[in-house]
This record gives sequence, structure tokens and C-alpha cells, in this order.
Amino acid sequence: MSESKVSLLQSWCVCSLSLTTAIALPAPQDESKYAGDESDNDDRGNEDSFDPLHVESNDPLVITLQKELKQSRKKVKEMETKTQTILKSVRDFQTQQKSLFNKYQDLRHDYKELHENMLKMLWQEMFDDGSGAGGRDSVSKRGVDGNTGRLKYDFLALKKQDAELVEEEERVGEYDIGAIIGEGQFATVKSCYSTTKEKVLAVKIIEKKKVTSLDSLKRIDNELDVLEEVAGKHPGILTLMDVLHGETYLYMFTEKLDLDLFDFYDDHPNGVTETLGRLIILGIMEGAHFIHSRNIAHRDLKPENILLRRQKGPDGTEEYDVVLCDFGLCARVEEGTLMTDFCGSPGFFAPEMFVQGEYDGKQADVWSIGCILLELLVGHDTFGECWMTAYDSEYMKRKSGFRSEIQSAVMELKELRLPSNLSDFLQDLLSDVDGKSRPTVNSLLAHDWIMESEHGRDPQIKRRLSSLDSPVLQNRTTSRTEDAFTGR
Ligand SMILES: Nc1ncnc2c1ncn2[C@@H]1O[C@H](COP(=O)(O)OP(=O)(O)OP(=O)(O)O)[C@@H](O)[C@H]1O
Ligand SMILES: [Mg+2]
Repeated sequence: MSESKVSLLQSWCVCSLSLTTAIALPAPQDESKYAGDESDNDDRGNEDSFDPLHVESNDPLVITLQKELKQSRKKVKEMETKTQTILKSVRDFQTQQKSLFNKYQDLRHDYKELHENMLKMLWQEMFDDGSGAGGRDSVSKRGVDGNTGRLKYDFLALKKQDAELVEEEERVGEYDIGAIIGEGQFATVKSCYSTTKEKVLAVKIIEKKKVTSLDSLKRIDNELDVLEEVAGKHPGILTLMDVLHGETYLYMFTEKLDLDLFDFYDDHPNGVTETLGRLIILGIMEGAHFIHSRNIAHRDLKPENILLRRQKGPDGTEEYDVVLCDFGLCARVEEGTLMTDFCGSPGFFAPEMFVQGEYDGKQADVWSIGCILLELLVGHDTFGECWMTAYDSEYMKRKSGFRSEIQSAVMELKELRLPSNLSDFLQDLLSDVDGKSRPTVNSLLAHDWIMESEHGRDPQIKRRLSSLDSPVLQNRTTSRTEDAFTGR
């Protein structure tokens, strides 16, 4: 090989090496390294006009090598340009990311501040009438406060927060707090022990920071308002014993029952006997009759909100005390006035609430009692198949579709082949899907199915009926039919 060829090849090797270095670009973040490449690039910037590696030669090998070299350098340049573009995008993206992160931080800060203000407004200022006393007595008039310009509310049954209350996981005030017995949307219900009353109770513990809207606060207040009004006045309504309002939680102390109707189904998967069904439904109707007579509708009657106390009858039979709880959705009703706010639970809310958009609160409770009776009779799983499906979200997309599904579910109830009185009773509760002429709880208490046990076969029912303050019952001449339904 001639000397000039050797030197040419050496140059080519050096050049290839520089190409390899140029291609092995640093990661985009490593800007200082890359800056070096940019300067290299500048050095080669005029290669078209001046090429230091160019050798005048007619040797085909040299010409081919030079050509390849030129193409390779062109490719490297293109790659460098592309890399520059990518690097710029990465830088832009990083800037955007940084600015978005800063915006997110600001938003988080604003949200936290807003949330804290909202909680303060809901849980402190709402109770503050300027006198410093707080509580129900002090917040007695609705209107704008002349001094502060703030709205004062007259509906709060809640007491003002007790800043001194010591809230510990296992002890609050005079109460030892025990295990969880139930959970809901805002509340956890635990068993507890009053050291002064020496009594086991239940406590509904509401975490205040979860209550962030006036509607939710109103729901809690509603429950307290009604429970305070009826406390201890009827055995079928949960008795409120005490309320404590600490910095973090609100505590409602009530009598403690053994289980709710939903849990009761675990022991009765195929439904209960007609006699037991009647006893439980009568208990629910007694409670409903009591609140209805005070113009209160419950509006969320369902198994989870029906509590039971297990008893053994004198002859060793299963007996239950029935108590209504969870008055968060209850409403005071005026005769002849329809309500419009939709509430309740799938499987149990009256169809007119959704279909018509207006309803009578007491009649809506009657429908829910019908649904509860059905589940009691057929058991949880069958109820799911023959009834709950009508409340499927697919059908609830259209009001007419939902109405006709409910209507056919009601028609199919006839196939259950229940004893005639029971079937009549169930039809009375559930056949009017528009809620135009559903019977009242008061009139249903005098239904043949309820009364048929008056002649001594169900002494418990007889005893309970005789203590009911119902004009319909007082005028009632009783009839008796066979108690043929034996359950499963
Ligand atoms: N006094 C009680 N004794 C025994 N169990 C209770 C008692 N109160 C409530 N429970 C149980 O706790 C569950 C939840 O209670 P409740 O229905 O009052 O609250 P909730 O459904 O959480 O209400 P919300 O949805 O308003 O927060 C009930 O379904 C029941 O199982
Ligand atoms: Mg509940």
C-alpha cells in the first residue's frame, strides 16, 4: 500500500472514531456534555465548502471511501439536528411539567384552605351567634345578623362543639368505646359502656371532616332533631341517650340492639314463617305509625335500618323487639303536600319518587314496608332475583321502563301462592306503583292478615295491637282466617 493510501486510511479511521463519538450522544438531561457536541458540530459547520479530510485522488477506493465518508457525515449532521429538536422538546416539556406542578401545588393549597374554611363555617360559625354561647338555644332565628352580616340558621338541633371534650379511641367523656357494630356513609357505630349509667349502649360516631356540605350536616341534624323529639316515647323508635360534640367527631349515644334485619337474613336464608314475618312487620308498622302520627316520614326504611332485640318467648319461641333507626333522611310532612327530593335505597324506595318526581312521604314508607315484607317472606336471594332486578340501573335509565319493570314484578308476586290474607296484604302495600291511593299504615294495622291472629294464637301480637293508639283499630270488628302459610 502506498504511503498516501496509508495516510488516507488513517485519516478515515480517525474520522470514523469521531463519528462514533458523535453518534453516542449523551442523555438529553446531560446538557453540559451535549454542549460539547454542539461545539464539535460548529467546528464541522463548513464541511461543504471546506473539507480538511479531502484528498485529491483518482483511486477508486479513495473516491468510494470519500463518498461514504461524506454521506456518513451528512447523516451525523441530520441526527444532530434531530437530537437538538428532541432536546428542545424535552426542555419545553420539563418547563411545562414544572409549571403544572406549581399550579397543582397552588390548587392543593387553595383546596386545603377552602376545605378548612368550609369545615369551620359548617361546624363552628354556624353555631356562633356572637354571644359566645352557641348551641341550639342561641341560634334561634333565621336571617342575616345585623352585626356580622352572616346568615344565622334556626334549624340546628346540634349543640356547639365542646372544646374540653377528651376524644380517645377507647374513651370519650364518661364512655368506654368498644367494637364496631355497624358502618355507614358518614358514620361508624360502635358498642360502648356508660360508666355512670353502668349500661351497654351503642354510639354512632360521625367524623366531622367527612361532612363537608350543608346537606350532609342537615342530614345529621335531622336525625338528632327527630330522635331528641321522640326519645323514649315509643319502644319502636331508637332511644337517644346522649350527644357529645368534640373537635373531631360527633357522638350519638343510643340504646343498643342485637342485630339489624339485614344480618337477621343470614339465619333465615329462605325467609321466615308467616307468624314471624307478621311479628316483625307489625313491629315496623308500630314504629312507622308512631312517627307518621307526628307527621314525620322516615323515607329510608330498609333492612339495615331496622334493628332487632332477640328474645325468647314464655314458650321458648323466637321473639323480637323491632326498633327503627337511621333518621337521617326523615322529613316532616304536611298533610296534602307532596315532596320532591328523591331519597331512599334501591329495592325499597317507592317508584313514584323516581317516576313522578313528587310523592307523599308517608305513602312512600308504606311501599318500603311492602318491600321489607316481601324479602322477609321469600329470603334475601330470591328477593334479589324477583324484586331487586326491577331496580337495575339499566331499567332506571328511563322512567317508563322502570315503571313497567316494577309493575311486572308486582304482577309476578301472585305466583308466590301466598295464603289469601297475606297475599291481599302484600298487594295493598305494593300494587299501587304510582302512589296515588296506597293505604295508610294506620288502616293497614287493621288488615285481616294482621288481625287474624287476634283470637289467641299470637298472644304477642294481640298484646301489641291492644296497646296501639289507632282509631282504625279501635273501630275494627275482627275476622279470622286460617294461618296456612308455613314459610320455608
Ligand atoms: N343502636 C344500635 N344497636 C345496634 N346496631 C346498630 C345501632 N345503631 C346502628 N346500628 C348498626 O349500624 C348500622 C349503621 O347505622 P345507621 O343506619 O344509623 O347509620 P348509617 O347508615 O351509617 O347512616 P348514614 O348513612 O347516615 O351515615 C346499622 O345498619 C346497624 O347495623
Ligand atoms: Mg343506615
